[in-house]
Amino acid sequence: MPASETAFQRCLNPACRETYSVAEVLTRCPACGDLLDVDYDWSRVKVPGSLREFEARWSQRLDPLAYSGVWRFRELLPFAPDNQIVTIGEGQTQLRSSDHVARYCDLPEGTVLLQYEGLNPSGSFKDNGMTAASTHARMTGARQAACASTGNTSASLAIYGGTTGLFGVVVFVGSGKISYGKLSQALDYGALTIQIRGDFDDAMRQVQAVCKEARIYLCNSLNPFRLEGQKTIIYRILESLGWEVPDWIVVPGGNLGNSSSFGKALAELKHLGLIPRLPRLAVINAAGADTLYELHERRGLRWNNGQVDQATIDSYYAELDASGRRAETLATAIQISRPVNLKKALRALDLCDGVVRRVSDQEILDAKAQIGAGGFGCEPASAASVAGVRLLRREGVIAPGERVVCILTAHQLKDPTATVAYHTGDPASRDELLRHGVERAPFANRPVAVPNELDQILRAIEAAAVPA
Ligand code: F0G
Repeated sequence: MPASETAFQRCLNPACRETYSVAEVLTRCPACGDLLDVDYDWSRVKVPGSLREFEARWSQRLDPLAYSGVWRFRELLPFAPDNQIVTIGEGQTQLRSSDHVARYCDLPEGTVLLQYEGLNPSGSFKDNGMTAASTHARMTGARQAACASTGNTSASLAIYGGTTGLFGVVVFVGSGKISYGKLSQALDYGALTIQIRGDFDDAMRQVQAVCKEARIYLCNSLNPFRLEGQKTIIYRILESLGWEVPDWIVVPGGNLGNSSSFGKALAELKHLGLIPRLPRLAVINAAGADTLYELHERRGLRWNNGQVDQATIDSYYAELDASGRRAETLATAIQISRPVNLKKALRALDLCDGVVRRVSDQEILDAKAQIGAGGFGCEPASAASVAGVRLLRREGVIAPGERVVCILTAHQLKDPTATVAYHTGDPASRDELLRHGVERAPFANRPVAVPNELDQILRAIEAAAVPA
């Protein structure tokens, strides 16, 4: 497939719509500064006539491109020649029903499904996008790649750099703003790790300046190629549902890359006639990092055919600056107050009749404990999706019987600190929970301390036994 003629980059701004070759390394439109999409001339792409044809590739799993849960769908992100694709076997993830979580959300059994992206090689959904960004980095001959991160993007970029050796990796993190699980990954995979005195929003600003100045390839979700890879989460969900469209897709919102790419994936599938209708989208913010909620639900900011009211955004950010308010949540992965993909997320919400909600850290940790008790380990940010479903059910926005898919964005072992604090009630970590308004732990599973004596151990087990 002559990728260079089929795929191009296009400015999101309807007043500009400038196009650029995929051979260019850009993160914003050089003409007007707006975000870029990767777009396709679909008349040139040989897209399978039915989504079921993608499933057939399960039988060719010794071929790395068929094995990858991203590149198995490569006709739906056709920007790279096959021989340039960088894959480490990402996207072997699962959609599974959780009756435990359904009951918690007051929804019927069998109607709540969890898309478990923690099963990716670096333990989060980011690998879906990083395989695509790494491929583009290779196509354009990049020698060094960088990102700012709350931890998962950096772990993902570091693993792609480390395992393929194609480029050196520099990651920028806010000092003290990253969980040890994630920091350990960047360090172990050999990334140059720059700890900036500041938070994610500061790191994000700096990495853009550094990449421009030093001509380093930027791998944040401003990079439109990364978002192409993240579209495949939607394809795998549909595939697991026998290509039926669910009623709701619910996703935590941080930098808003996922919600943006989900909207794009669904719009393209509809355009290609591969799905008959669109699901509704719910994006869930943490209450301490609720920019999208504030702008969309309270100040009425809308996509408005691409004419997004910049003055509303600017005045909100000016208020944040004036009050010195910073994003603050135990769900550190989504501790972001200036989401770079804001406009694309508004487009996705517009397309999918979407809603935005905010949930407290108490709600997030309670939901996380329930997800865990149902057998799925996720990090706090991921649990915002389930807390959001519970809230939307309570409000009557989600109706019983609707089929709801929650994205569990990353693995539990990424950030065990809050989990252990919640379950143990350990005084050393309780202060941190209290500081974030988490005063109760109704679903705590406390460890039982016993002396090193057989009879006392047996007695402790007996005391805890559930009556038959
Ligand atoms: N969940 C997890 C576990 C994440 O790591 C992130 C983002 C999100 C949700 C939010 O996704 O940005 O697409 O809205 N983490 C980024 C990082 C910012 O640097 O790892 P989003």
